[in-house]
Amino acid sequence: MCGIVGYVGDKKVVPILLDGLKRLEYRGYDSAGIAVLEEEGILSEKCAGKVSALEKLLGGKSFQSTTGIAHTRWATHGEPTDLNAHPHLDCKKQIAVVHNGIIENYRSLKELLSSKGHIFTSDTDTEILAHLIEEYYGGDLVEAVRTALSQVEGTYGIAVICKENPEEIVAARHGSPLVIGRGQGENLVASDCSAIIRHTNQVVYLEDREIARITKNEFSISTINKVEVTPHVQEVSWSLDQIEKGGYSHFMLKEINEQPITLQNAMRGRLNYEEGTSRLNGLNLQYEELHNINRIILSACGTSWHAALIGEYLIEDFASIPVEVEYASEFRYRSPIIQDGTVVFLISQSGETADTLAALREAKRKGATVLGICNVVGSTIARETDGGVYIHAGPEIGVASTKAFTSQITVLTLLALLLGRMRNLSLEKGREIIDSLKKIHQQVEFLLQNDNYIKEIAKEYYKKNNFLYLGRGINYPLALEGALKLKEISYIHAEGYPAAEMKHGPIALIDENMPAVVIAIKDNVYDKVLSNIEEIKARNGKVIAIATEGDREIAGRVDHVIYIPSTSEQLTPLLTIIPLQLLAYHMAVLRGCHIDQPRNLAKSVTVE
Ligand code: G6P
Repeated sequence: MCGIVGYVGDKKVVPILLDGLKRLEYRGYDSAGIAVLEEEGILSEKCAGKVSALEKLLGGKSFQSTTGIAHTRWATHGEPTDLNAHPHLDCKKQIAVVHNGIIENYRSLKELLSSKGHIFTSDTDTEILAHLIEEYYGGDLVEAVRTALSQVEGTYGIAVICKENPEEIVAARHGSPLVIGRGQGENLVASDCSAIIRHTNQVVYLEDREIARITKNEFSISTINKVEVTPHVQEVSWSLDQIEKGGYSHFMLKEINEQPITLQNAMRGRLNYEEGTSRLNGLNLQYEELHNINRIILSACGTSWHAALIGEYLIEDFASIPVEVEYASEFRYRSPIIQDGTVVFLISQSGETADTLAALREAKRKGATVLGICNVVGSTIARETDGGVYIHAGPEIGVASTKAFTSQITVLTLLALLLGRMRNLSLEKGREIIDSLKKIHQQVEFLLQNDNYIKEIAKEYYKKNNFLYLGRGINYPLALEGALKLKEISYIHAEGYPAAEMKHGPIALIDENMPAVVIAIKDNVYDKVLSNIEEIKARNGKVIAIATEGDREIAGRVDHVIYIPSTSEQLTPLLTIIPLQLLAYHMAVLRGCHIDQPRNLAKSVTVE
């Protein structure tokens, strides 16, 4: 949420900052700005709108600077206006700050600073940081930032420049991620590696309550309490290609189409056919410890929460371990019961979601073993958990999560298999699942070829304002995810329901203007779902069914059928999701929506 990038080196900084901002834009995109150190002092330009609006604003102006910071915003305090856009400057225009996070005590600090004569020009919480640093500045920017931050309650990832300290950026983090990129004769700082990877793959993740002084040839890190920290340099394993569109019109479409590969990556080296189980060494748990697990809590937000719901079915089915699924935002404020043998898994694509991180810390505080299922290597959740499993989906840029979701389900399947085979799951069933997993990427590939057919369906329905998604059993969470995908990117109101619940309310909404997408695969509740379809048809509702290949019966009862190849029942979500993702995508394109940057959303939600 909010993207920060800063550069200090020998190159002209403005193009580097703009490129970084474009790569970070998925984190927030309601306004953007830069501040650079020119000979005459700090020059700052900012405006409401996307990075392209900032680029236009800067067009034609010439900048010589080789040091600067930039920001793309997702508004929390103050509307997305030119004035509220970052960077924010102090009264003397000597200090510029970009910030990701929320300063909770900003009102009292603002009052205090106003009483000392500071003049504020925005409605943001961030602006107080610039004035607070100004208040303490006496020649050493790190010290001024340190003192200012000691007054602050809340979360921050900040980058600061100062007229008096050219060729220096000071960065600090508490709760909002920041990473330093170590180059040769140049160094960078950013909210995540995507803004840095073009320049270097050597990175250092800042920890909470750390401050860094970054110059072109070196950087040093200390804690807010002045303890020096030895930087741990890590190598980013992915490349620039992975964060480019590669010929697709949108990142979302690229990521949907990457799933045959990402699914294989999620299971690579982890299948043990011989024993019908999986290997997940990253869990860091001994056989005995895995065997002693008697309750599992899966906690997450958004799409990751839907993956967790599927995980609940899988783990209970394969391993007979009771599973609870909790929204991280609820878990953190309840009094969750953690007993001996309870393990908490946090599921997060970004590994930075504020609520999920808070749930992690709460579970840890209560003595639970906390494990992560994350995509972003080195992310805060990955680092703070006792162990876990990376899903290896590669960078996901589209705000609406697609490939991370299927990779999360794959990893949860492997986890259920591992725990199941230590308990009652038979070798035969274990091997059946592995056989099905091995084929799944080809089946996804086949489904992706249905794209034109799904586009045709989308053409018929994209003007509708409401949709109902229904599913049962392990495909009920898919109804939720299908509805979420549609509302996120097309702004069509959509609700996901367990099919049998329709008669307890949503049926009142059914008419010719309320189409229903029904997941009706051949499983033990197939006949019941068919009855639900009849109930919709009897009320003139339109039905798009997702059905099992070869099911001719359903074709006569619904308006459209999208067939999925047959697989083990427990793996069907990996297939049923593909047409749902494509349907949402095409409807949003037809409605002229911003696919990769839907309004009001952000990819990595680092505020509560
Ligand atoms: C945001 C994104 C969603 C995502 C959710 C959880 O709301 O827009 O796509 O599912 O955060 O993110 P995480 O990174 O924790 O999986």
